[in-house]
Amino acid sequence: MMKNRHLIEPENLSLDELERLFDLAEKIKNDPASFQESCRGKLLASLFFEPSTRTRLSFEAAMLRLGGSCLGFAEPASSSTAKGESLADTIRTVACYADLIVMRNPKEGAALLASRYSDVPVVNAGDGGHHHPTQTLTDLFTIKQLRGNIENLTIGFCGDLKFGRTVHSLAHTLTRYPNIKMVFISPPELCIPDYIKREINRVDGVEFYETDSLDKALGDLDLLYMTRVQKERFFNEEDYIRLKDSYILDAEKLEQAKKPMMILHPLPRVNEIDIEIDNDPRAAYFKQAKYGMYIRMALIASLLGGASC
Ligand code: NCD
Repeated sequence: MMKNRHLIEPENLSLDELERLFDLAEKIKNDPASFQESCRGKLLASLFFEPSTRTRLSFEAAMLRLGGSCLGFAEPASSSTAKGESLADTIRTVACYADLIVMRNPKEGAALLASRYSDVPVVNAGDGGHHHPTQTLTDLFTIKQLRGNIENLTIGFCGDLKFGRTVHSLAHTLTRYPNIKMVFISPPELCIPDYIKREINRVDGVEFYETDSLDKALGDLDLLYMTRVQKERFFNEEDYIRLKDSYILDAEKLEQAKKPMMILHPLPRVNEIDIEIDNDPRAAYFKQAKYGMYIRMALIASLLGGASC
């Protein structure tokens, strides 16, 4: 039973719970009308201390499509945070009003802290450069929908692997699936953190290597997970400007890839994927954004006990 649980890191969900969420999301996708009353009378609070388009709006759309309602703020300047209120006090207050809290915050560990002050489930919608578990649900649901399973995959993560929280959550979770190989493609300054490498190394049978060359790795990949360089986490602009266009996937480069290679990106995209490949059948990132809403519907319904999971 997932009812009344917090989701702070992907590890909070067992493999079995992930599977049940994917099954429920598929049912919702195929027959949304049957779920339109699942969360009637329930309230979701979305507290976004950092910018967001897909995560916030897909959560709110998900709740509204389940028959529930939403409240919250999209920037901290309009909340009492601007008056100096602590996160703990904000959470204690919002937990009095809402049945579920979805929060994005620039500080690593903020969601865990929030969960300690909340009587209602807290879902981490991104804590700094740390984790983003519901993007991982989105990514895995997309892979499952488009490939049929999550196994026997060589996946390349490309871009800002240091600050990219979606990469940390997905790489960590993929170690739980069979026969996964990972290739971490980044400039040395933006390489995957040691704590993620240690977590991968702890699992027998998961192979990975690091490279700074997308060209060399591309031909081996079944899936390419592109990411943007996370401007907001840089300490100086010069470094950002130097690194921001390290990798650009365009039609010419894509010729080196396997014919069925899937391209995912959590979005927003800046320059790292040329718009000329948006209509290539391998480009799955806008489908991914849509699947994100169905998996969040499944998650909300499960946490609030409105549908069995
Ligand atoms: C990602 C995030 O916020 O970490 N966006 C998202 O939720 N889809 C990726 C990013 O901002 O680059």
